[in-house]
Amino acid sequence: MVATMQLIDGNEISKQTLAELREKIGRLFAREKIVPSLVVLRVGDDPASVSYVKKKEKTAAEVGIKGTVKVFPPDISREELAREIVALNADAGVNGILVQAPLPPHIDEKSMFNLVRPEKDVDGFSETNLGRLAQDLPSAIAACTPAGIIELLRRSRIETAGKHAVVIGRSLIVGKPISLLLLSKKSNATVTLCHTGTTNLAEISRQADIIVVAVGHAKFLKKEMVKPGAVVIDVGINRIPDATKKSGFRLVGDVDFDEVAPRCSHITPVPGGVGPMTVAMLMRNTFLACCRQNGIAEESLL
Ligand code: GUN
Repeated sequence: MVATMQLIDGNEISKQTLAELREKIGRLFAREKIVPSLVVLRVGDDPASVSYVKKKEKTAAEVGIKGTVKVFPPDISREELAREIVALNADAGVNGILVQAPLPPHIDEKSMFNLVRPEKDVDGFSETNLGRLAQDLPSAIAACTPAGIIELLRRSRIETAGKHAVVIGRSLIVGKPISLLLLSKKSNATVTLCHTGTTNLAEISRQADIIVVAVGHAKFLKKEMVKPGAVVIDVGINRIPDATKKSGFRLVGDVDFDEVAPRCSHITPVPGGVGPMTVAMLMRNTFLACCRQNGIAEESLL
């Protein structure tokens, strides 16, 4: 048992982040008469996507971003969706474009992400933005969930420099970009990226000062995989059946919270940890994209 275990409150940190952003967006409008704008493309009616997109729309309105959701039928052709993206790329009134995943199986997601102009790619999923991240370039737009994790660590005053961070999961959305961010000169961590092909996972994760788990398996990280005093960031959002809930399910992370939490110095809960930061970072990316497109230095709005 680590006596000083602290819960990282993503709801609270996201609220603070959004309040600061709202102020900056207010100053941007007062000074330049510019309102940042975000367009979200949703294909079909995947229930999780419907709920995520609603949250994005609502948060945009709260911080002063003009949010537009375009909904397409699940049988939209690849060419039609591509045309929409190309038109939005050319529209000077649009600062950020997000293609909500998952797309139907007949449309290749990566080819759609790559069509979004890098300067408007507020998801940070395009090959250009990932390449810029790998090159540690300031023009990179970092994917929202990884950017949110960095913000949680920063605002919780958790040192990353010189620490050993173990990332579990190699996805395009989380594992790869968070590894690059932690590896950047600014974060300066030593990073080990583990995945389903890693044979001695527990041995490696036990060496970590910081563990980021993004595997999509409920309660995957067990206590014997965690060094006492480690920081644990849980990116998982898994539905498990729960007859006591009206919905019939509840959300749990990739961490077996009850057994891991007592060992940690800091841990993020699910829900209320990383999740709320993702949408906050989408708003920040949209604001940053808008500033860059208009040649405005963000610092001038502090
Ligand atoms: N689906 C689930 N999370 C995300 C996200 O962060 N961005 C997009 N585009 N789709 C998602």
